[in-house]
Amino acid sequence: RKSIKKLTTGSKNLDDLLGGGLETQSITEFFGEFGSGKTQIMLQLAVNSTLPEENGGFDSDVLIIDTENTFRPERIIQMSKYKGLDPDTVLKRIHVARAYNSHHQILLAEKAADLSKEFDIKLLLVDSLTSHFRSEYMGRGSLAERQQLLNRHMHDLLKFGTINNAVIAVTNQVSARPDIFFGDPMTPIGGNIVGHTATFRIYLRKSKGGKRIARLIDSPYLPEGETVIQLSEDGIMD
Ligand code: GTP
Ligand code: MG
Repeated sequence: RKSIKKLTTGSKNLDDLLGGGLETQSITEFFGEFGSGKTQIMLQLAVNSTLPEENGGFDSDVLIIDTENTFRPERIIQMSKYKGLDPDTVLKRIHVARAYNSHHQILLAEKAADLSKEFDIKLLLVDSLTSHFRSEYMGRGSLAERQQLLNRHMHDLLKFGTINNAVIAVTNQVSARPDIFFGDPMTPIGGNIVGHTATFRIYLRKSKGGKRIARLIDSPYLPEGETVIQLSEDGIMD
């Protein structure tokens, strides 16, 4: 087993909450309502992964499985400049795969192993983990199937993280409707399956302006707690 490494989020506060950053060989889930900052954090992690190790990165390539078409090269350019990185170099190291449906998403995660033969991928992002599953498996009868597929998908992701000593980070919306399929309001989609497989779960909620409150939930060995991060033009910071 390779030794676990940590990736900076760009926020000292959030890194501290996580015991130093996002861990390799684990899945970290960011969940929260629309606009809570999930995608901005994903983009920042992608940039940070290209940083040298002494600056909290892995000097690595990145794979993003994008299910909502929210990858923005302009944001990568802004965040890269702020970190003193060459934006073109960073963009070349971020491999974006658009997932058209949940089946395609599962396939892309399986194919990630092939990409890692050619590129040194130490960060795999799925934004969003659950959106396709949520829209495709609506009825009561399909809930079990959805959970089974989601479970398999998460184990594929975790396997990639273990084999490649990579960080896996995923986003998840909270449910807007309190019903049997989606659970209570402010409950992450996918419920127990996602919860049991994700090692670290961070609940994001909006505060004033660009401020966001990040709360660590159900961590196996870190204390629960919350902190404030700042979303800005230059990216995620304190
Ligand atoms: P959903 O995917 O809709 O669930 O939301 P999310 O949690 O992914 O939110 P996202 O990270 O997209 O946005 C969080 C905040 O960042 C929003 O309040 C946006 O206004 C802000 N934001 C998005 N793009 C930019 C940008 O280019 N510059 C700046 N400064 N802020 C941005
Ligand atoms: Mg988003």
